[in-house]
Amino acid sequence: MTKRRGLLLAAAMVIAVAALLTPVQRARAQAIGVDAPYVPTPWGVVEAMLQLGKVGPQDFVIDLGSGDGRIVITAARKFGARGFGVDIDGSLVGIAQREARRQGVASRVEFHEQNLYLTDISRATVLTMYLVQRMLMELRPRLIKELKPGTRVVSHDFDMGDWKPDAHVTVPVPEKPYGPPTSEVYLWVVPANAAGTWRWRSTLGGGPVDIELGLQQTFQMLEGGALVGGRMARFEGGRMHGEQIRFMLIAEIQGRAVRHEFIGRVDGDSVSGKVKLAGGGEADWSATRVRRGKIEQR
Ligand SMILES: C[S@@+](CC[C@H](N)C(=O)[O-])C[C@H]1O[C@@H](n2cnc3c(N)ncnc32)[C@H](O)[C@@H]1O
Repeated sequence: MTKRRGLLLAAAMVIAVAALLTPVQRARAQAIGVDAPYVPTPWGVVEAMLQLGKVGPQDFVIDLGSGDGRIVITAARKFGARGFGVDIDGSLVGIAQREARRQGVASRVEFHEQNLYLTDISRATVLTMYLVQRMLMELRPRLIKELKPGTRVVSHDFDMGDWKPDAHVTVPVPEKPYGPPTSEVYLWVVPANAAGTWRWRSTLGGGPVDIELGLQQTFQMLEGGALVGGRMARFEGGRMHGEQIRFMLIAEIQGRAVRHEFIGRVDGDSVSGKVKLAGGGEADWSATRVRRGKIEQR
């Protein structure tokens, strides 16, 4: 979403919500000073969010600003997950707790009256949000730092600027009370940190060669420079998907440009996986990080 569309959508959401609120609700919203007003995610969008996040029985879903609890309750009831929601508005927390009991999922979900900025999010395997973009941008450094690599972050209608989503769907919402009759659903997969210098020995082009790869990481995107047998090699297509790393090295070997594709799993300062060799075939690949860098956030 463009910044302008985001601002327009946020403004439209606030105006539409103000119009929808009863005088009592409006006074309560002003009194508690909520950062994002209460607007429930339409049911079709709740499903789309949970599907895009591939929620299943193994998942622990946290909804920041949970409103009437519909996202976490649906995650438990239809997708078998567990989880909790937090909301600054105690009356909404009460509604969510009652609804969880009514729908028979109270043993698997919890709702707490809590400021989302103070909520421990480290247990999430899926984190959902329907908040305004300013809040997402404020939360962004915490998502990268505190969520486990591989955690799926799903947001309704608002994106996270330079941290481009890994997937995005548009859902028709004919009854939407503000903006266009559609909702945007964004998915990010929290990347592991692969930044720094990696070394390994490989049999590229026949003989064993020492390889040193320097990686700079901005969110899930990787840029790099490599020395293959002491000679510069081209780095392309570098990307993290949770703990999975993928990139290509194009090295000059015996006068020929030879392309190898690496795919592996980063585990601390080790990586192991496979390299697809230029002439076909595959070999095991493992490397060690000798200097650790950090994930840049523009
Ligand atoms: C747009 S509603 C989304 C409700 C629900 N997640 C859904 O999608 O149906 C945003 C919710 O965030 C809550 N909220 C706003 N600021 C908050 C804060 N600082 N801490 C916790 N909840 C907050 C509001 O009370 C509101 O219920």
